[in-house]
Amino acid sequence: MDTNRRPETMQRITTKALADAFIEEQVAQVRKQVGGRKVLLALSGGVDSSVVAALLIKAIGKQLVCVHVNHGLMRKGESEQVIDVFGKALDANLVYIDATERFLGLLAGVSDPERKRKIIGKEFIEVFADEARKLEGVEFLAQGTIYPDILESIKQAEGKKAVKSHHNVGGLPEDLKFELVEPVKLLFKDEVRVVGEALGLPHKMVYRQPFPGPGLGVRCLGAITRDRLEALREADAILRDEFDKCGLAEKVWQYFVIIPDVKSVGVKDDSRYEGWPAIIRAVNTTDAMSATIEEIPYAVLRKITERITSEVEGINRVLYDITPKPTGTIEWE
Ligand code: XMP
Repeated sequence: MDTNRRPETMQRITTKALADAFIEEQVAQVRKQVGGRKVLLALSGGVDSSVVAALLIKAIGKQLVCVHVNHGLMRKGESEQVIDVFGKALDANLVYIDATERFLGLLAGVSDPERKRKIIGKEFIEVFADEARKLEGVEFLAQGTIYPDILESIKQAEGKKAVKSHHNVGGLPEDLKFELVEPVKLLFKDEVRVVGEALGLPHKMVYRQPFPGPGLGVRCLGAITRDRLEALREADAILRDEFDKCGLAEKVWQYFVIIPDVKSVGVKDDSRYEGWPAIIRAVNTTDAMSATIEEIPYAVLRKITERITSEVEGINRVLYDITPKPTGTIEWE
């Protein structure tokens, strides 16, 4: 039997009861596969790796070692949430690595989007591999692979070309050989979320909007500078906060801020103020292959604009990108 194919008879997980049954089955299966040995997991804080972490903590407790690599390109509060939920509430075996300096050092002066992606992806593997080598007796690697990832790999194997290189975490170096543990690989995203809630993860974590592996790195356009990256992180946090307050966060598929490497002349406190524009993107889609624009109410746009221009150092304008995909991609890089 091909264990990478979802059986046609497999019921969709839509309720807590079905999720509980799935969890019970997977807990037993993971215990059987792993025994008393250790499992390593790269915990980004995204939906899939978080659900796998919670499931494995339930199955094997401290035999799971979660490694969270903060590449310095996370959104505001994200790494802190990983520490709060996994390190504190779930008392996981969590290794937190602040690799901000390593990543930003390598990215300095690099403006080509695909080169930025490659640097971030490669460095991520290196930081993670360095950590894995320090740990004794780990024989398994857990991954948050889900069914669409498997379907995508099948498509790529059939020779279909991708527009951007989305796969950030490629293979680990040769000296690190692990057996894989992929408990949610036959699930679709909506099912992973139902399982996550049944495991008791916070609703906000489980229903988090998609966030690219290279993080804010592909939204701080061109060569990343620390001041522009900080402005982006703050502006994005304001957008998310306002979307939370008006209910759009539950409705819109993906919403975020982009900051280009361009300044315009503005005025602040009666003086000339040169600043960057913050560009708002809010899109809806089912498969990310095409996307439509969310029509944000004008009052919400005005509030976001007022807050970003008054609270964020370095920004003097707010723009709203109303281009669907195609012709625009969802991200700008
Ligand atoms: P685009 O910009 O291609 O984005 O329309 C489609 C979806 O993919 C996400 N995206 C990425 N995800 N690594 C990722 O893990 C990447 O390099 C990457 N680039 C884009 C994007 O956020 C959107 O959800």
